[in-house]
Amino acid sequence: MRLVILWLHLVGAVVWIGGLAYQTHVLLPAARRGEVAPFAAAARRARPATWTAIALVVLTGFYNVTQLGPLERVIHTGAGVMLAGKFILVIAAASIAGQRDFAQVTLLRGALATNADPQPALRAIARMDRIVLVLALVIIYLGLAISRA
Ligand code: HEM
Repeated sequence: MRLVILWLHLVGAVVWIGGLAYQTHVLLPAARRGEVAPFAAAARRARPATWTAIALVVLTGFYNVTQLGPLERVIHTGAGVMLAGKFILVIAAASIAGQRDFAQVTLLRGALATNADPQPALRAIARMDRIVLVLALVIIYLGLAISRA
């Protein structure tokens, strides 16, 4: 059971961060050179997979916390501090991802529908994606460090 939940935790992380990396490094550069509509459609279609993955990674993460063992050991090894840091970074990453997916992608689609300039929304999405990817690198490191503490 514990291994299956950990596997789901990692599958969720891969789907979320892998999908984001593909969008931001493959589709977004093309959109900034003019192919905006395919990017806007892909970004909207990716939302259910992204948010299912985020829900999965958070729910399985809470289960993982219950499997860390006695509280004294968790505090003594430093896993508790790393877990707190990881939790704060996950909240920050998910908040930025929400702003990106539900505000900026909607603004982008609105700009396309009204023939307005899509570049401000594209720039905001690129900035937010970079921040979430950097946060994810730290979150993944902390996950590995916690499980080996
Ligand atoms: C609220 C959200 C989260 C919580 C509470 C959480 C909690 C945990 C815990 C307690 C572990 C240690 C599991 C063990 O040793 O048995 C762990 C491992 C891990 N987590 Fe998370 N996590 C969360 C979100 C994430 C996210 C968003 C990512 C990636 C983007 C992630 C990536 C990892 C990785 C790579 C491991 C290492 C697995 C291993 O080496 O066995 N976690 N997580």
